Amino acid sequence: GPHISPTIADLRAQVKDWRRQGLSVAMVPTMGALHEGHLSLMREALSRADRCIVSIFVNPAQFAPTEDLDKYPRQLERDIERLAEVGVQLAFTPTPAEIYPAGFATKVSVAGPSAGLETDFRPHFFEGVATVVTKLLLQAAPDCAVFGQKDYQQLCVVQQLCRDLDIPVEIIGAPTVRDEHGLAMSSRNAYLDEAQLTTARKLNVILRTASSAISRGADPEQEAAKAGQALLDAGFRSVDYVAARESGSLGPWQPSAEGRLLVAAWLGSTRLIDNVEIAAV
Ligand code: PAJ
Repeated sequence: GPHISPTIADLRAQVKDWRRQGLSVAMVPTMGALHEGHLSLMREALSRADRCIVSIFVNPAQFAPTEDLDKYPRQLERDIERLAEVGVQLAFTPTPAEIYPAGFATKVSVAGPSAGLETDFRPHFFEGVATVVTKLLLQAAPDCAVFGQKDYQQLCVVQQLCRDLDIPVEIIGAPTVRDEHGLAMSSRNAYLDEAQLTTARKLNVILRTASSAISRGADPEQEAAKAGQALLDAGFRSVDYVAARESGSLGPWQPSAEGRLLVAAWLGSTRLIDNVEIAAV
């Protein structure tokens, strides 16, 4: 199985040893409760580098007091087994005190792609993500790090952050892994009961319908509104947003540019997000 580093010092010693041997290093940051989506990022990482580090850290800084920090699934032993199956060499499993010791006083705040969408509903989320990702990348100093397109706005924020802070890590966006019904895999899918799962599986269908209408020239705002109503009709409790944005910058989308249609919606007390490309025609 993988070497397990619970401390930054141990992580750094291991990476230093690899560097002495001339090996390249990739990193996959996660919050654990690993599923096929996470594993696909690790396979991508291992195809690009000699060694792969997976961090497993449920980052308190990206949860609001009202959110599911305490309830978030934790299953470290099973996660380590999955890492062994994929051939990951190192698991970084710090405690909250290792990452945020007493007296910690710094926040990384990214503008640009973090504006709107998730930020309208989780105002401190990307500050928490940007702060922990900055720390993880500086702690491990990998050559590249792999993030999922599933959390598309997060991927864009991390790309912006590395560009702006000259963090010399190549950020790779890997495709969303879905179940046989097209539902994007998520650790939070574990909260859904059978009926909710049936509804959840309609999300990607509604999203793809709207996206292909938009790519054929339909009005993006109108299609987004229609998709929002379709989600409510399908049984979603409420819709935070359905929005067409320009890929990468996440600024307003223009028909000639590469686009992304992004959604966040509630199923009972579970919040699901997804996004698809708006194909250029
Ligand atoms: P987490 O939700 O555990 O996700 C870890 C990585 O797995 C992210 O890059 C996410 O986009 C990717 N991922 C999740 N579901 C996926 C799927 N179905 N297909 C492909 N990739 C998928 O995202 C986080 O953790 C945290 O915010 C983190 C970046 C670790 C910072 O704390």
